[in-house]
Amino acid sequence: MKTQWIDELSQRVPLSRQPQDLQTYGRDWTRVYVPRPSAVVFPRHADEVCEVLSFCSEHGIAVVPSGGRTGLSAGAVAAEGELVLSLERLRHLGEVDPFGLTLTVGSGITNHETHVHAEHLGLTWPVDLASKGSCQVGGNLATNAGGIRVLRYGHARHWVTGLQVALMNGTLLNLGNAVQKDNVGPDLRQLMIGSEGILGVITQATLRLTLLPTDRQVLFLAVDGMETGLELLRHARIQGRFQLQAFEFMGRNCLEAVMKVGGVPSPFGGGELPPAAVLIEVEGRLDGDLDRWLEDVLNQKLVRDGLVAKSSGDMSRLWAYRDNITESLGRLGLMHKNDISVEVGRLAEFVHVLEKEVAPAFPGELYLFGHLGDGNLHVNVMKPSATDPEEFWDGCHVADMQLYELLHKVGGSVSAEHGIGLLKKSALRFSRGTAEVAAMRAVKKALDPQGLLNPGKVFDLG
Ligand code: MLT
Ligand code: ZN
Repeated sequence: MKTQWIDELSQRVPLSRQPQDLQTYGRDWTRVYVPRPSAVVFPRHADEVCEVLSFCSEHGIAVVPSGGRTGLSAGAVAAEGELVLSLERLRHLGEVDPFGLTLTVGSGITNHETHVHAEHLGLTWPVDLASKGSCQVGGNLATNAGGIRVLRYGHARHWVTGLQVALMNGTLLNLGNAVQKDNVGPDLRQLMIGSEGILGVITQATLRLTLLPTDRQVLFLAVDGMETGLELLRHARIQGRFQLQAFEFMGRNCLEAVMKVGGVPSPFGGGELPPAAVLIEVEGRLDGDLDRWLEDVLNQKLVRDGLVAKSSGDMSRLWAYRDNITESLGRLGLMHKNDISVEVGRLAEFVHVLEKEVAPAFPGELYLFGHLGDGNLHVNVMKPSATDPEEFWDGCHVADMQLYELLHKVGGSVSAEHGIGLLKKSALRFSRGTAEVAAMRAVKKALDPQGLLNPGKVFDLG
């Protein structure tokens, strides 16, 4: 009797109850929750998404929208018997509009596919993530993805002109299209972006494209730590006569993890690894500007050792040290993750206090890496092999509160780019006030009065 609705829904939309599918589609990249969805549906177009949602509204069934499932805050986890609504079959890939530089895609298109599609015209959708091969446009927008080029282009929300969104009651909203200037009242499109699937389900997006930089240079520099990394950034911003595309930081243990898991040598040759490294990408024809800058920072002893990529193969090889951090850490052990940000110029001071006052409270070694250029640091904690997982998670949550207090003090954010999902709900109050959360709840209640869409994510309805 309990599963009668599943049989009924399966008559209308492709649906799976295979144990393997339930496992795969019921989770994201977090490994904290046990996936327990009741079923997974695979609508083939927006009308079927609406049909599923209106069916679920009628039967009181909770729904978890699901993209590439690369999220790190458990925003797409179905651990309470929800129905997973996979958007992966919404794979419409339109033509690039050469006048307005836009591209309309279904939400199941991967981030990387948008890049490949626009590349032959010398264009790109500049949202670029380490998980680009798997993450999907719908998820990128539902979470307002950040990534490695935020210091140049900002978050995903800046690169959208139109959005199609299905509401829980089965209504399909067309929020803008390829029209560039459209200033008519409150912007529901921007409200949906970053709402983590609790307000509506993104089925299609019209993306803004930009020129793919014609020339780029990649540098991998060994530094003494965050302080010199930051000094290098200041130097690059002011003295460097070039446009930064990315400015990434990694601590020595992150570099070691990538080398160990990938079986790759140190980028800096033999000898001891430096305490930290930064990966810098710059764009444009540089006519010696970069060489002069590098010479200058070497003379000033801001850099211990440096590599400049000589070919696109070199660039990919150097980028791999950065792109492979998350996966490598995940393979070495169980990680507790934090994704925080502070004003860029205060990052070194923040890390100093973090290491001195908060790090000892965490029940494992800290692995720091992230997007130095925009003030976003990923604070990862590795579970020691002898520690029981439950004890480890509990210890991390206690230490997290100290981290969040510190962030609150300096006006930082408890979630720079990963979102709140299920995992960071207890952190929300450190970055958003009571009145603001109450306003969010009111919006949620207006659009999803039964609280069926991605329930329990971001905040509880109370
Ligand atoms: C990254 O910067 O690689 C991602 O945000 C993933 C992560 O934090 O592990
Ligand atoms: Zn990141």
